[in-house]
Amino acid sequence: MRKHIYALSGAGLLLSVSLTALTAQEHSGALPAPPDFAAQSEPNFVSLSDIQEFRALDKYNEPDWVTKKFVEAGTLPPVAERLPKEPLVYKTANMPDGVGVYGDVMRHVIGGRPEGWNYIGGQAQGWGGIDIGLSECLTRTGPLFTVKAEELEPMPNLAKSWEWSEDGHTLTMHLIEGAKWSDGDPFDSEDLMFYWEDHVLDANVSPLNGATPETFGVGTTLEAIDAYTVKWTFKEAFPKQYLWAMAYGTFCPGPAHIQKPQHPKYSSNTYEQYKNAFPPEFMNMPSMGAWAVVEYRPDDIVVMRRNPYYWKVDDQGNQLPYLNEMHYRLSTWSDRDVQAVAGSGDFSNLEQAENYVESLRRSAEDTAPARLQFGARTIGYALQPNLSSNGWGEPDTRAQAVRELNRDLNFRKAISIGLDRQRLGESLVRGPFTAIYPGGLYAGTSFYDAASTVYYPHDLEVAKSLLDGLGLVDTDGNGVRNFPADTANGADVEITLLANSDYGTDTNLAEGVIAMMEPLGLRVIANFQQGNARDDAATAGQFDWAVNRQGASMVSIVQNTAELAPTGPRVHPFHRGGTDGTLDLLPFEEELVAVVNKFIATNDNAERAELMKQYQRLYTENVYSIGLTQYPGALIVNKRFANIPAGAPIFMFNWAEDSVIRERLYVPADKQADHELHPETLPGEPGSAGPV
Ligand code: GLA
Repeated sequence: MRKHIYALSGAGLLLSVSLTALTAQEHSGALPAPPDFAAQSEPNFVSLSDIQEFRALDKYNEPDWVTKKFVEAGTLPPVAERLPKEPLVYKTANMPDGVGVYGDVMRHVIGGRPEGWNYIGGQAQGWGGIDIGLSECLTRTGPLFTVKAEELEPMPNLAKSWEWSEDGHTLTMHLIEGAKWSDGDPFDSEDLMFYWEDHVLDANVSPLNGATPETFGVGTTLEAIDAYTVKWTFKEAFPKQYLWAMAYGTFCPGPAHIQKPQHPKYSSNTYEQYKNAFPPEFMNMPSMGAWAVVEYRPDDIVVMRRNPYYWKVDDQGNQLPYLNEMHYRLSTWSDRDVQAVAGSGDFSNLEQAENYVESLRRSAEDTAPARLQFGARTIGYALQPNLSSNGWGEPDTRAQAVRELNRDLNFRKAISIGLDRQRLGESLVRGPFTAIYPGGLYAGTSFYDAASTVYYPHDLEVAKSLLDGLGLVDTDGNGVRNFPADTANGADVEITLLANSDYGTDTNLAEGVIAMMEPLGLRVIANFQQGNARDDAATAGQFDWAVNRQGASMVSIVQNTAELAPTGPRVHPFHRGGTDGTLDLLPFEEELVAVVNKFIATNDNAERAELMKQYQRLYTENVYSIGLTQYPGALIVNKRFANIPAGAPIFMFNWAEDSVIRERLYVPADKQADHELHPETLPGEPGSAGPV
């Protein structure tokens, strides 16, 4: 059948148009089963209430040196006064190795660089767990990988409890009472309202990780009832889904007492000045996290010391964290793997498949300093076509012509069919790791349904005939197809491909795509940029195509759900509002939006499963993005650390830096090493030079 069409496709444009339409339909085929790859350990599944509770204890403890050097010197109130009325208490029975001891450091290595500490104002902190550790959120999801499926719901965190009104339209949340920022200033509803009104609702601000009004539902309101109570009002009844959006990274308030005076609404600053008001050199930025930043050396290191006001304890009353210090070496992501395996770093999410073989080999040795454990296939890459044709990113004539092509289903099919995913995956690593990824939901999620997944197998000739059918013909004989004469002056079809050069995997996959487009007659040009610049270009819409490692929405579905479709003008990775702020959705995108909104509005599991089948069909049939490859990652942690939960995936509801509950990790006394750079110090005054 395919041969037959091939023979015909050269026979004439008209003929090939109708025939290729038919071919592509018929060309969808069975998705090859992914190679078996067993996760190496299973989580120990528990109930939420087994992990933590909020409760006052009779007595609290802290490291001796804090009492001696600070409390007894009169520079810090006693620990009991620094803790909230009812701290968050981790239960011993749920700690893999039990109650810990104080001391030591976790030495992270990261490939990102901090833009500054204004997380809610949109600055990146360098990733790799920095922002996850600094930003505590209303609810928490990372550790849920150990929670029984039937009891899955976000964990209370800054919001310690909540109730729904009878009609389900209002949600009253109770904040942890009497907790303080790392500089001792009270944490209360003012911090929430500042985040909500002056960041989420202020369209001039884009908080890091992309919260917008749609993240919490159009028309949703939030008001403060008193210092520790807030009330949400929703259009839908019981939209429990939004509890997930209140976790990392979309509802993690910043310190209003420090940030408000810089915000344009309360100062003469511009929005740009506000965003940059807390540069990387600004030390001791108040944090609700277990550690606060005390030292920064460009391209070298970020150091954090324990937050003396941290509001979590173990059930013996020991204030957390157990680890006194955190390091983030400013290096490369690949070096993170190398150092973790070698023992000069302590932690890595092994996620760049090119490093697997060497990391596995070294970790298998008896003398290996680190444990390496693979999880499920939760790392996935897609090629994302920019689908806005109304001005997002201000495209020139050529880029605009590419956008129009991107919006044509046959064009997206041609790219998809033109890619040899098997070869693409194997170019990263040989063996059972990578699997063909047709796009859409990952096979590892419980919402995935193979029968609803449309897959168009690789076939160069079919891909070519689809492009012929679009009138893209190489008119000047240089091996590159041209736009039709009336489009972009009939120029060569040139497409820029944005990718993150901080990751070898991203650029390797992008180069694979570029090479595979060449025989199709498409000239794809690399636009590889460092992480922060890449992220800026992506959110500004300045790309034709982008190769992207996808976020939590495709794995957990319940996390970042609103970004599964363009549910608002600023939520979707590759289709956002144009210059006038409006969206120009394709008909199938309208359907996707409706499905996603229905999913958000219902708590009925059977209906949700059904909706995700529809989602997957619409997504893959329409080749919304072009899936590339998916594969498992491995968590590498130095063997001296205790309390690492079994079966921790590097990525599921959040990255492992959240999932492993770092505030609960410790190093047994006989294994403690001498890694602290600022022993027996605590964070100083916000903006002052360093630790005290
Ligand atoms: C980066 C890394 C991930 C993880 C996250 C945490 O994206 O590539 O492995 O560490 O940061 O935010």
